Amino acid sequence: MRDFITRFALRGVVAGFLLLPTGAAQAQQTRQEYLLTTDWKFTKGDVAEAAQPGFKDAKWQTVSVPHDWAIYGPFSSRNDLQQVRIEQNNEQQATLKAGRTGGLPFIGVGWYRRRLQVPGFGPGQRAALLFDGAMSDARVFINGQEVGRWPYGYNSFSFDITAFLKPGGENVLAVRLQNQPEASRWYPGAGLYRNVHLLVTQDVHIPVWGTYLTTPTITAEFAKVKLRTKVEAPAGAGTDLRLETTIRDAAGQAVATTSTPLAATDGQEFEQNLVVPKPQLWSPETPVLYSATSRLYAGQVLKDEYTTPFGIRSFAFEAGKGFVLNGQPRKFKGVCNHHDLGPLGAAVNTAALRRQLTLLKELGADAIRTTHNMPAPELVSLADEMGFMLIVESFDEWKKPKVKNGYSQYFDEWAEKDLVNMVHRDRNHPSVILWSIGNEVPDQWAPGGTKIAKRLQDIVHRQDPTRPVTAGMDQFDAAVNNGFAALLDLPGFNYKPHRYPEAQTKLPQGLLLGSETASTVSSRGVYKFPVVTGKDQKYSDNQSSSYDLEYCNWSQTPDEEFAAQDDLPYTLGEFVWTGFDYLGEPTPYDEKWPSHSSYFGILDLAGIPKDRFYLYRSRWNTASPTLHLLPHWTWPGREGQTTPVFCYTSYPEAELFVNGKSQGRQRKGPSDKPQTRYRLMWNEVKYAPGSIKVVAYDAQGKAVAEEEVKTAGKPDHIRLVADRTTLTADGQDLAFVTARVEDAQGNLCPEATTQLQFSVSGAGRFRAVANGDPTNLELFHQPRMQAFQGMLVALVQTTDRTGELQLKATGKNLKGATIRLQAAKPTGK
Ligand code: GAL
Repeated sequence: MRDFITRFALRGVVAGFLLLPTGAAQAQQTRQEYLLTTDWKFTKGDVAEAAQPGFKDAKWQTVSVPHDWAIYGPFSSRNDLQQVRIEQNNEQQATLKAGRTGGLPFIGVGWYRRRLQVPGFGPGQRAALLFDGAMSDARVFINGQEVGRWPYGYNSFSFDITAFLKPGGENVLAVRLQNQPEASRWYPGAGLYRNVHLLVTQDVHIPVWGTYLTTPTITAEFAKVKLRTKVEAPAGAGTDLRLETTIRDAAGQAVATTSTPLAATDGQEFEQNLVVPKPQLWSPETPVLYSATSRLYAGQVLKDEYTTPFGIRSFAFEAGKGFVLNGQPRKFKGVCNHHDLGPLGAAVNTAALRRQLTLLKELGADAIRTTHNMPAPELVSLADEMGFMLIVESFDEWKKPKVKNGYSQYFDEWAEKDLVNMVHRDRNHPSVILWSIGNEVPDQWAPGGTKIAKRLQDIVHRQDPTRPVTAGMDQFDAAVNNGFAALLDLPGFNYKPHRYPEAQTKLPQGLLLGSETASTVSSRGVYKFPVVTGKDQKYSDNQSSSYDLEYCNWSQTPDEEFAAQDDLPYTLGEFVWTGFDYLGEPTPYDEKWPSHSSYFGILDLAGIPKDRFYLYRSRWNTASPTLHLLPHWTWPGREGQTTPVFCYTSYPEAELFVNGKSQGRQRKGPSDKPQTRYRLMWNEVKYAPGSIKVVAYDAQGKAVAEEEVKTAGKPDHIRLVADRTTLTADGQDLAFVTARVEDAQGNLCPEATTQLQFSVSGAGRFRAVANGDPTNLELFHQPRMQAFQGMLVALVQTTDRTGELQLKATGKNLKGATIRLQAAKPTGK
């Protein structure tokens, strides 16, 4: 829950910034939050005495947080080299895996230090540090004293540091982090990769994640809102407390208000019941948000103010009916996503997340499973605001390990604490629909595994009885036969469309979820001939074909899952592995360096759509039609050779023309091959330079749309296209600028590999670049990179200066390009 940031968000703690003026203003200054972004000192490696206040850190690097110390590379096959047999992938023997966790240097210890001035802090106040996530095994020190530890790198946690602070003086915050080798199956990132908040309150206050808001009754006329609010107060101070809560609608109008004395409660928690008239319901299509602002008074003195954003929506999972949101049945159009942001690594950035969600909206997706761990809080807030339903997931393993030094080492001591924090942080968010207690945990088939599942599910129910619990299961036979699958509120299956009917017969729930689907592999813009449907298909260039017919020995092409979802009414929808490519897990090239990022994404590591984007779009995006042709049509040397043409479209039928000559009409329809049901395919086309064109027909047989792909001439110039042209001058905002190598007519040169150079001038700076090639070892933060299949994406970041910024791109034998963007003053803060 992100109540406190909006009103008083301040960047950094600036010397001389007075927190608490006296008099009337003081009453308003009840709660301050500081985002600790600037002025951190950082070093890699363990350093004795680094926690001590007097330690000299002047020679350490100055960094800003969120910070991922490993994303700057260099890549090496020796980073976290793992000799393993991956059971989940049906491997029979151990092999050496070089890029499994991304080939980046994230192993080892890192230290962060920062001066922490809290001017005016003193008696009657409390201070807490809230970490949104720290990778990993965080140990936090104030003035040399350890205030707490949190091993799991993906979770949020907070410590009360009141007793450790020197009133009015200068304090030193130090954080030690440590990443072990063989602790992950993908790139985890390293460091303070999410935000760190300093919260200063009165001693009578609402603690971190102190509210729990539910909407037990929703009708067209009204919604009941039940708000439980915890209060912490020193002994004897809690007698005359009163909580005033006002609910506001999206326009800021007060729609309900109430005031409750603590005497009317159990003494530690307020319970308030309010009624919102004629509620506007939250859904992915109408992400309407309300807020509940609570003012805590001791007598006449305002002690705290806390805002809980929320949404009003009802949902149910009903056997025989499926998933029903606000009374409407629907199936999840979901993707699984890991947490990294490609070239930014794990360092969280709101603009990067917003761009991901914008692209997923365009795809027509409405749901995300946060595999296989707790997401950044920014993602959850954006999902509320932009309209995505979330499965918030907790763990990739429990007691029985998948990797040598994974979470299993912490499981017994920490699992409950981790689940409690996960639920407390995110349970007020309308976007969160399901909690997942695990992904493909080997305990599915281990003795005692079912008991653990029950225990974890019970913990989640205890903290939030309003949402069902699921888990992603891969061990179908074990889990279905030993009671594991049966005890979950909702069974989730990974890659099992052919076994859904059996699960439906054997399990009591009467519903099931495609918690992980497809795992089709492809490299953007790469096409392999001959075109074959292939399991674990590999090529000497470490790329996979974008004809979208290649998958893993445990997985499928998208079409198999589509057919199961369409034919079986008890399926709840799917979560595709994955929305975006991510660092690490370069299947099918797990053993073949330099592959070090995934091939599974619907979009590549740079966020550029692969062809598959349009296959899902044709099914998911009902707001606008899809008509997409593949492959590209620039194949010197392939003249006369068979070069199949596929069309991904929402239209039922289309006719293909090669250089004006009809190749016949194709219509989607039932057949023994699911592909012909969902794609139009002309498998016998012979390549001739010129153009391919489709004319699409609607259900009435009327020609309604066309799409053409032309053979490109030689590379001529660079074209730059920005996702946004006006940015916020807050030092964080990003523009994602796609650079295309084009011929003189503006056609993409689809095989261009020219290295492009970037420079930024004016009110911005170069931040990173990515081209989506899983084998590319150029560093993301250097202002140059080779185009991959004619494209790449450069990231430009604002500073705190307003005005124009220019990104210039040049490349050998190409006319360069410059794009101008605006950095505008931040608003509303
Ligand atoms: C699943 C697993 C994912 C990823 C995927 C690749 O078994 O849950 O994390 O490894 O396979 O297909």
